[in-house]
Formats: sequence, structure tokens, C-alpha cells
Amino acid sequence: MACAFSNTCRAVIVFIWAALTLLIVHVASATNFSIHVAASEIEGQALLNSGWWKDRIPHNTSDHCNWVGITCDYDGRIDGIGLRNSNIKGELGRLNFSCFPNLQSLDLWNNSLSGSIPSQIGSLSKLRYLYLDENNLTGTIPKEIGRLRNLKLLDLDSNNLNGVLPQEIGNLKSLTFLSVSNNTLGGPIPSILFRLTNLEILSLDFNRFNGTIPREIGNLKKLTYLSITTNKLTGAIPSTIGRLTSLQILDLSSNQLHSSIPLEIGNFSALGNLNLSDNKIRGIIPDELTKLSQLQYLSLSSNLLSGQIPFAIGKFFNLVSLDLSKNKLSGSIPTEIGNCSELRNLTLNHNSLDGTIPLEMGKILWLQNLDLSHNNLSGTIPTLCPMYLDMSFNSLEGEIPTYLQGHPPKSFVGNKGLCGHVKGFPSCSQSQKHPPSIILFVKIFLPLSLVLAFIILGFILLLKRQNKTLKLNSRAAKNGDVFSVWNYDGKILYEDLINATEDFHIKYCIGTGGYGSVYKAELPDGKVVALKKLHHSETEDSAFVKSFQNEAHVLSTVRHRNIVKLHGFCLHKKCMFLIYEYMERGSLFCVLRDDDEAIELNWTKRVSIVKSVAHALSYLHHDCTPSIVHRDISSNNILLDSNLEAFVADFGTARLLDVDSSNRTLQAGTYGYIAPEFAYTMVVTQKCDTYSFGVVALEVLMGTHPGELLSSLSSSSGPKIMLIDILDQRLSPPVNQKIIQDIILVSTIALACLRSQPKSRPTMQRISQEFLTGKTPMQKGLKEISIAEMRNQEMFLLHESDNIP
Ligand SMILES: *[C@@H]1O[C@H](CO)[C@@H](O)[C@H](O)[C@H]1NC(C)=O
Ligand SMILES: *[C@@H]1O[C@H](CO)[C@@H](O)[C@H](O)[C@H]1NC(C)=O
Ligand SMILES: *[C@@H]1O[C@H](CO)[C@@H](O)[C@H](O)[C@H]1NC(C)=O
Ligand SMILES: *[C@@H]1O[C@H](CO)[C@@H](O)[C@H](O)[C@H]1NC(C)=O
Ligand SMILES: *[C@@H]1O[C@H](CO)[C@@H](O)[C@H](O)[C@H]1NC(C)=O
Ligand SMILES: *[C@@H]1O[C@H](CO)[C@@H](O)[C@H](O)[C@H]1NC(C)=O
Ligand SMILES: *[C@@H]1O[C@H](CO)[C@@H](O)[C@H](O)[C@H]1NC(C)=O
Ligand SMILES: *[C@@H]1O[C@H](CO)[C@@H](O)[C@H](O)[C@H]1NC(C)=O
Ligand SMILES: *[C@@H]1O[C@H](CO)[C@@H](O)[C@H](O)[C@H]1NC(C)=O
Ligand SMILES: *[C@@H]1O[C@H](CO)[C@@H](O)[C@H](O)[C@H]1NC(C)=O
Ligand SMILES: *[C@@H]1O[C@H](CO)[C@@H](O)[C@H](O)[C@H]1NC(C)=O
Ligand SMILES: *[C@@H]1O[C@H](CO)[C@@H](O)[C@H](O)[C@H]1NC(C)=O
Repeated sequence: MACAFSNTCRAVIVFIWAALTLLIVHVASATNFSIHVAASEIEGQALLNSGWWKDRIPHNTSDHCNWVGITCDYDGRIDGIGLRNSNIKGELGRLNFSCFPNLQSLDLWNNSLSGSIPSQIGSLSKLRYLYLDENNLTGTIPKEIGRLRNLKLLDLDSNNLNGVLPQEIGNLKSLTFLSVSNNTLGGPIPSILFRLTNLEILSLDFNRFNGTIPREIGNLKKLTYLSITTNKLTGAIPSTIGRLTSLQILDLSSNQLHSSIPLEIGNFSALGNLNLSDNKIRGIIPDELTKLSQLQYLSLSSNLLSGQIPFAIGKFFNLVSLDLSKNKLSGSIPTEIGNCSELRNLTLNHNSLDGTIPLEMGKILWLQNLDLSHNNLSGTIPTLCPMYLDMSFNSLEGEIPTYLQGHPPKSFVGNKGLCGHVKGFPSCSQSQKHPPSIILFVKIFLPLSLVLAFIILGFILLLKRQNKTLKLNSRAAKNGDVFSVWNYDGKILYEDLINATEDFHIKYCIGTGGYGSVYKAELPDGKVVALKKLHHSETEDSAFVKSFQNEAHVLSTVRHRNIVKLHGFCLHKKCMFLIYEYMERGSLFCVLRDDDEAIELNWTKRVSIVKSVAHALSYLHHDCTPSIVHRDISSNNILLDSNLEAFVADFGTARLLDVDSSNRTLQAGTYGYIAPEFAYTMVVTQKCDTYSFGVVALEVLMGTHPGELLSSLSSSSGPKIMLIDILDQRLSPPVNQKIIQDIILVSTIALACLRSQPKSRPTMQRISQEFLTGKTPMQKGLKEISIAEMRNQEMFLLHESDNIP
């Protein structure tokens, strides 16, 4: 009994205790709740008072947590305000900052806010991200900003802020990003700034900071980006800067820095972009600089640098742009420059360089802009084919090469010794083409030479009267109407191409396609290339020439192991052609139509061909900028090398010929491979390529064009066709389980590609991934699978979101 009582008693006590606790908690949380409601109301009222939400409150809600740009925490307190690009006008101070103690992020980027930054901003003690960039804020940066101790990002870019950086900014120990660029801030850069050792990005550019760069800058070891361009800094670049070993971008251009380039600059092992241009930097370009193996952009222009360009420049394998213009550099251009094979822009103008232009420059494959003007370079012009060229005001001599004669005359003026078919230049006589010693030689032996010449001429006329090659040679040399030969190693000349094909003799023709005929040409160095001669006759239109060149350059940057390399192009008055890598086994079309060759192409090789084409198209569509739509995928445009590996050819040719139209075109693709929607949209999309790919994939499995199968697919209730029945009968049916699974995968994907709705076709990227993961759609034997069954596979249908057209 006592035990029962005590148990009951205990139960009652426990109950009372629990009830009391609940009550207390309830009262407390109710109090908390009412505090929250009050605080939350204040926040909502403050938003309303700003006037910025007038048109941004949804009609059906009074809860400001649902207003545009507002986010709240679990307690209903505002923790984020984001109104970027919202065209807000009026003073920033209209938002009462005292009302948002829980705010973590305030983003008002790109509005028209005016007035000064109110000191109340200091009450946002939890703020982590503050974007006020691209507004019209004036006045000084308030010292209260130093109270935002949790701030990680402060962006005040592009306002009209003036005054100095307040010392209190040194309290913002958590900052990783600080930009005050493009204001009118002045005075010295405060040393205290360099206590912010978490900074990764520091941008002070386009202001009026003066004085020197503090030595303490070396403390910011995490910096990856430092830009102080366009200020009024003086003094030397402190050697402590060498401690910033994480830097990727360093821009100190357009200041008044003097002294020399510190040797410690060699410590920047990750640096990709170094810009010290437009200062008063003296001394030599130190060899240490060439330790920056990651460097892509180097500009030292408009300084007072002297001495030579270091030979070690050949170590800049990644350099894309080199600008050393407007200095006092002397000596010759080192031949090692030929090692900088990625160079696009090379600007060495306005120096005192002498010597000859190194032949090795011709090795720079992608050179686009070359400015060597206003130096004292001598000798003849080597084989180079940049798009923009300035060689004016040097001491160059000899003939302006025919392939450069399309450039404007001003590219060559100021060189007394130059001649050629360029306006304002004398045409080349023997004497101008050759140095004086040879003239002497020719003069002394002139009578003898003449006699010899007559004998040879007579011999030729008599015996080689019909020799076409010779005639063409002299014609090509005579007419200076070659616009441009641009090529892979600076060695292919137009004349070589004419010679190699005997002016495009039919016996060198290895195929004809939609856009022209293909010739095989063996160059003097033994290299074999394929020439695609395009039918076109607009090469005199300079706008066309330019867009053709641009386009060809884009295509030339395409590099994939399953895409035929475009070595170069040539534009000539009446014709233009593209120079491709030569593929020994010719087109897939021809191989499939030859019984012996088709048998050599066993199931493994066929599956591998389909996969290669998928990877190549995925690359063209998704990894190239701009993305390239092939427009003409067919078995004719898939070439095979000696190992029967597949390479996609002729990508972008259509666009090349059709440069200024958007994607609308009359010329697209090969009959039998064209996506059905093209007939009514006339617009070529990536999904057209997907369709054509589907046709080719089936063709590879069937050994012939799947014409009839395609038409039976479009009628919904076709006969029941089994997969085994469509496979190429010339090969024995596959037995290896892996191959069988691969064939099922290829045909399932091919059928998905042939769906009539472009949207429901998979992207090439997804197909490529599918082949890489190699998942099998169905675990069934070859004989049991019907076409209809494969078409109904869920594969890809579940991933509509992938299918961005
Ligand atoms: C009341 O609110 C504060 C702050 O929001 C919180 O830390 C506390 O736990 C709350 N108290 C109760 C009983 O919910
Ligand atoms: C409020 O309006 C928006 C758009 O006007 C709508 O999407 C949303 O469903 C509405 N909410 C309620 C609860 O009616
Ligand atoms: C800035 O905002 C305007 C609208 O107010 C918009 O038109 C413009 O594109 C925005 N600028 C940027 C860089 O987003
Ligand atoms: C801003 O809010 C605080 C706290 O609610 C209040 O004391 C102050 O008067 C407000 N300031 C303005 C200008 O409305
Ligand atoms: C910025 O403010 C100035 C005056 O301080 C005014 O003249 C100018 O028009 C404003 N600019 C914009 C874009 O609002
Ligand atoms: C600087 O800011 C102005 C507007 O204040 C803008 O027009 C200009 O483009 C900015 N300049 C740079 C270099 O960002
Ligand atoms: C820096 O500029 C301020 C004005 O913005 C000027 O008073 C000061 O003398 C300048 N200092 C130097 C070292 O030029
Ligand atoms: C280097 O700085 C100059 C001057 O500020 C600028 O004109 C140039 O575009 C910059 N070059 C690179 C490669 O950033
Ligand atoms: C930076 O370079 C200097 C001189 O080249 C060298 O003495 C120093 O050790 C380097 N510092 C770091 C951190 O690599
Ligand atoms: C140029 O490149 C070759 C290898 O391609 C290399 O052996 C040579 O050292 C490089 N020259 C310079 C100056 O770095
Ligand atoms: C090369 O210079 C041109 C013209 O100055 C410029 O438009 C282009 O962006 C530069 N290219 C590179 C890769 O720096
Ligand atoms: C240019 O170089 C030639 C030698 O090639 C020399 O005679 C001439 O003085 C040089 N001119 C200048 C302005 O340095």
C-alpha cells in the first residue's frame, strides 16, 4: 500500500512538475513570441518606410518574409535583403539600419541609391556580406563600418565616395573580399589595411590613393587578386610583395611607380596576369620574371625599361599576351620567342630593337596581333600570318610576302627597303629583292647569266611546253592576289599547295562533299594533308574575308582526339580552301560500302566509332566557346585513320560559308540525315546534330543507311522488327556479352536521338556520359529485343531537364 501510495504520489508530483515546466516554457516562449512579433513588426515597418518595396509586395501576403528580396530566419527575423538590379532610387539612409540586428546579407548592387553611407550601418553587427557597388553614393566611408566584425565581403565599387579609408577598417578581421575601386578615395593606403590577413581579393583601383605601397602588404599571404591600377602611387614596389605567393592577378598599372622590377617577383608561382604598364619603372627585365611559368598575360608597356628582352622568355610556354611596347628595350628579338607557342598578341612597338625578325616567330601558331612598329628591325620579313600586323617604321627590306599583301599599306610604311604589290611601294625588281653583294655578282656575270637563261628557256619551251606546274608557278608568283595563307607551322605556302595538286588536278581528288572537293596533297617536307576546296566566289568582299578569317581561327582552336585537325586555310581570289589532317582510310561511308573493308570493321570497332563521334560532338556542343553546331553529320564526314579510329570532319564549314546569318540557313546537312523539324523551321540546332548522329549510329550497326527503318519508325504501329534482324549481315552475329550489351546501348541511344520532338532527344553531352559510364539499358539476349521495346526505354525520358535545346 505504502508502495502504491508512494508510487501514486510520485506520479502526481511528476505530473505537477511537468505541467509547471510546460507552463513556464509556454509563458517564456509566448513572451519570446511577442518580443519576436514586436521586433518583426519593426522590421516590416522599416522596410515599408524605405519606400523601396512599394511595388514589390505581393497582393496576397502581409508577411514581409515573403516580399521580394527578403529572407527570414526560423524566428521570422530578417536575415537577408537582396534588391540588386532593381532600379531603386533615393537615399540609402531611408532604410533604418538600426532595425535589422539579425541581418547577415545586404545586397543593393546596381541601383541608383544616393546620399552617404549612414553611420547606423554599424548596428548591423551580424552582417557578413555587404554589396553597395554600382550606386551613386557620396561622402566618406563612416568609421562605424569598423563595427561589422563579422563582415566577410565589402563591396563599395563604382560609387562617388571620397575622403580616405578609415583606420577602423582594420578591425574587419574576417574580410576575405574588399573592393572600393572606382571611387574618388585619396590619401595614402593605410598600413592597417594589411592586418586583414584573411583577404583574398583586394581591389583599390581607379581612385586617387597616393604615397607608397606599404611594406606591410607582404602580410596578406592569402591574396589571390591585387589590383591598385590607376591611382597616384609613387615610390618603389616593395620587395615584401614577394611573400604573396598565392597571387594569380597583380595589376599595379597606371601609377607613378619607379625604381626597378623587384627580383622577388619570381616568387609568384601561381601568377597568371601581371600588369605593371604605364608607370616609371626603370632597369632591365629580370630573368627572375621568367620563373612565372603560369603567366598568361604580361604587360610592362609604357615604362622606362632598358636592356634586352631576356632569352629565357622561351620558358613562357603559357603566355597568351606579351606587351613590352613603349620602353627603351634594345638588342634583338630572341629567337626563343618561338617557344611561346600560345601567344596571341605580341606587342613590341616603340622600342629600340634591332636585328632581324626571328624566323622562329613563324612557329607561333595562333598569333593574331603582331606590332613591331617603331623599332630598328632589319632584314626581310619571315613567314608569319597574323590577322593584324604593324611593321611600320623599321629598317626592313626585300619583298612584302604575297600572303601579307592583303594588309593595309600603313602596316609597312616607314621601311625604305620594302617592295611588293602594296599601294605606295615600288614593285620588286631584282635589285630590291637581293642584298648588294648579289647585285654585284649579277652585274659582273650578267652577260653569262643571260646566255645561260636563254639556253634554259629554249630548253624548257622545247621540251616542257605543256608543263602546267611551271606555268602555274610563275602565275602564282606574279599575281599578288593571295589574301592569306594561315597555317600550322608557317611552312605551307600557297605555291606548295598548287604544286602538290598540280593546280587541283582531278587525279588528286579523293572525294566531293556538299561544300567542295577534297584533294590529297603531299607537301615538300613529306607531310600529307587533305585540302578542301570550297565552292565560293566572294573572296573579294573584305567583310567576308574578315569573318571567314575569324571563323577559321575559331575552328582552328578546336582540338579533340576525335576531330580532324584544321591546319589552316587559304583565301585566294577565285577559290578558298581549308587544310586538314589527312586520314588514311577515308570516309566511313566508303568503308561501309566496301564488303572487305566493312568486314574489317568488326563489332568492337563499330561500337568504338559511334562512341568517338559522340564524344567529339559533345565537345563541339558543350566544351567549345562559342558552341559549334556541326550541321552536317553523315557517314561522309566521319573519317577513319589507319587504325580505323573515327574522326569527325568538316565541323562548322556550313557556318564558315554562312557567317553572318544567325542559325537560319538554306544549306544544311546531307539528305537522309537531316532532322525532320528542319524542313519547317530552317533553324539548325544542336538537336539537329543529335538526330543526324542517331542516323549514323544505326548506319554503323546496319552497314547501310537506315532509310526504311526510319520511315517505319515514324508510323507508330510498324511491323515488329527485332534488333538481330537489322544488324549488318556481313558480320557474324556478336557472341561476346560485353559487345552485345554495347550494341544494345548504341541502338537504344540511336533510337532516342531519332525522336521527332527535338526536345525529347538527349543532348550529345548526356550521350557521351552515357557511353562513358557504360550502363546497360536491358539485361536481355540479342534475339529477344525488338526495336519497339528499345524505343519505349525510359532512358533519357526521365531527364528532360538535361534537354535544354
Ligand atoms: C527566446 O529567444 C532567444 C533568442 O531568440 C532564444 O535564445 C531563447 O532560447 C528563447 N527562449 C525560449 C524559451 O524559447
Ligand atoms: C500569392 O500570389 C502569388 C503570385 O501572385 C501566387 O504564386 C501564390 O500562390 C499566392 N499565394 C497564396 C497563398 O494565395
Ligand atoms: C543594372 O540594373 C539595370 C536595371 O536597373 C539593368 O538594366 C542592368 O543590366 C544592370 N547592370 C548589370 C551589370 O547587371
Ligand atoms: C530607426 O529605428 C530605431 C529603432 O527602432 C528608432 O529609434 C529610430 O528613431 C529610427 N530612426 C529613424 C530615422 O526612423
Ligand atoms: C549621381 O549624383 C549626382 C549628384 O550627386 C547627380 O548629378 C547624378 O545625376 C547622379 N547620377 C545618377 C546616375 O543618378
Ligand atoms: C566607374 O563607375 C562609373 C559609374 O559610377 C561607371 O560608369 C564606370 O564604368 C566605372 N568604371 C570602371 C572602370 O569600372
Ligand atoms: C596625397 O593626397 C592628399 C590629398 O588627397 C594630399 O593632401 C597629400 O599631400 C598627398 N600626399 C602625397 C604624398 O602626395
Ligand atoms: C594593363 O594595364 C593597362 C593600363 O591600365 C591596360 O590598358 C591594359 O589593358 C592592361 N593589360 C592587361 C593584359 O590586363
Ligand atoms: C622570394 O624571393 C626571394 C628572392 O628571390 C627569396 O629570397 C625568398 O626566399 C622568396 N620568398 C618566398 C616566400 O618564396
Ligand atoms: C624552348 O623549348 C625547348 C623545348 O621545346 C626547350 O628545350 C628549350 O630550353 C626552350 N628554350 C628556352 C629558352 O626556354
Ligand atoms: C589582343 O589584342 C586585341 C586588340 O588590342 C584585343 O582585342 C584582344 O582581346 C587581345 N587578345 C588577347 C588574347 O589578349
Ligand atoms: C638602325 O640600325 C642600323 C644598322 O642596321 C644602324 O646603322 C642605324 O644607325 C640604326 N638606327 C637607329 C636610329 O638606331
